[in-house]
Amino acid sequence: MRIEGKEYRTIWFDNNVVKIIDQTKLPHQFIIKELKSVNDAINAIKVMEVRGAPLIGGTAAYGIALAAQENNDPEFLKKSAEKLIQSRPTAINLKWAVDRMTKKLAGINGDQILSIALNEAKEICDEDEKFCENIGINGLKIIEEIYNKKKDTVNILTHCNAGWLATINWGTATSPIYHAHKKGIPVHVWVDETRPRNQGANLTSYELNEEEIPNTIIADNTGGILMQRGEVDMCIVGTDRTLSNGDVCNKIGTYLKALAAHDNNVPFYVALPSSTIDWNIKDAKDIPIEERSSEELSHIEGIDENNKIKKVLIYPNKSKAMNLAFDVTPAKYVTGLITEKGISDASSEGLKKLFK
Ligand code: MRU
Repeated sequence: MRIEGKEYRTIWFDNNVVKIIDQTKLPHQFIIKELKSVNDAINAIKVMEVRGAPLIGGTAAYGIALAAQENNDPEFLKKSAEKLIQSRPTAINLKWAVDRMTKKLAGINGDQILSIALNEAKEICDEDEKFCENIGINGLKIIEEIYNKKKDTVNILTHCNAGWLATINWGTATSPIYHAHKKGIPVHVWVDETRPRNQGANLTSYELNEEEIPNTIIADNTGGILMQRGEVDMCIVGTDRTLSNGDVCNKIGTYLKALAAHDNNVPFYVALPSSTIDWNIKDAKDIPIEERSSEELSHIEGIDENNKIKKVLIYPNKSKAMNLAFDVTPAKYVTGLITEKGISDASSEGLKKLFK
C-alpha cells in the first residue's frame, strides 16, 4: 500500500539485510530500519518495531534466513529458532513461520541453506500478501451487501491495527475496506485508539489517511454508544490466534467490542489468514496471553513543539499498573470468519469445511 504516494511492503530483503518500516516511530517519523542479524530480528519483534501477527511471522522467517547468513551450523539455527519463537508469545504465526522454515531447512547441505532460507522467507511473505488480498475480495461482498441495502456510506469499526502495517500488504481487517474503497463504495472507518500503545490511532488511522479513506479516531470506550445510536454498520477486527472452535484471541478490548456489537445486533467479523489458526489448542484458557511492561500504560509518547518524539509519565508515580495485551472473544459473539478461502461460521464445522 502507499505512504506519501509510494508503494511499500512492510518487509523486504535487499543487499544482505532485511528492511522494515520502524512502527515505533509512526506516525510522526517514517524510518526504514535494517536488520542485519537474527538478534536484530528478535529485538524488532520484542520492541514492536514490527508487530501484527502476520508480519511477526514474516519477520521471524527472515530472522531464520539472517541466522543462516551469520552461521549455518544446525545447532545455531536451532537455538535461533527457539529464541525467535519466544520473542512474543500470543501470535501463533510466529511459531508457524519458524516451524515452516525449520522443516524446509532440515537436512539441507551447508552451502545451500542461505538461498533456500531466503526463498522460503520470501515465499511466506508473498503467500501472506496473496491471502490478505483474497480476504479483501471475500470480505468485500459483506460490505457491498450492506451498501446495497443502505445506499449510503458504510460505517465500519475496527480495533488495533489489523491493517497492511500488521501484515505484508493489504492487512486483514482493512483489506475488505481497501477493496470496497477501490470499487467506489463509500466507507468510513471508526478507528479505536487502542490503548495503551495506540496502534489504532498511530497506525490504522495513518495508513487509512495515506489511502485517502475517511476515518475518525475514537477513544476505546466510544464504540458502545456509537453502536447504540446505529452509527456502526459492522465491525471487522484481526486476530493473533484463532482456535479451531472459532474462539478468537486479539488485541485487548476486542472482547468488549464484540459484547457491545452482540447487544446491538451489529455484525462482528474477524478477518484472518489460515496461518493464524491454532489447530492444537482446544481451550482458550491455554492461549498464552502476553503481559507487557506497565510503562506502556503509565507513559505516553508524542511529538513536542520542536518536532521531537517525547515520552512523558501520565500516572501517579506510585501507582501500579497491569498491561495484558490480548483477550479472547468466544466464537458465539463472532458473526463470521473472513479467510483467504472464503467466509465461514466461527465454529469447528465452519473452519473444517474451508480447511479440510
Ligand atoms: O500487539 P500487536 O500490535 O502486535 O497486536 C496486533 C493485533 O492485535 C492485530 O489485531 C492482530 O495481530 C491481527 S493483524 C492482521
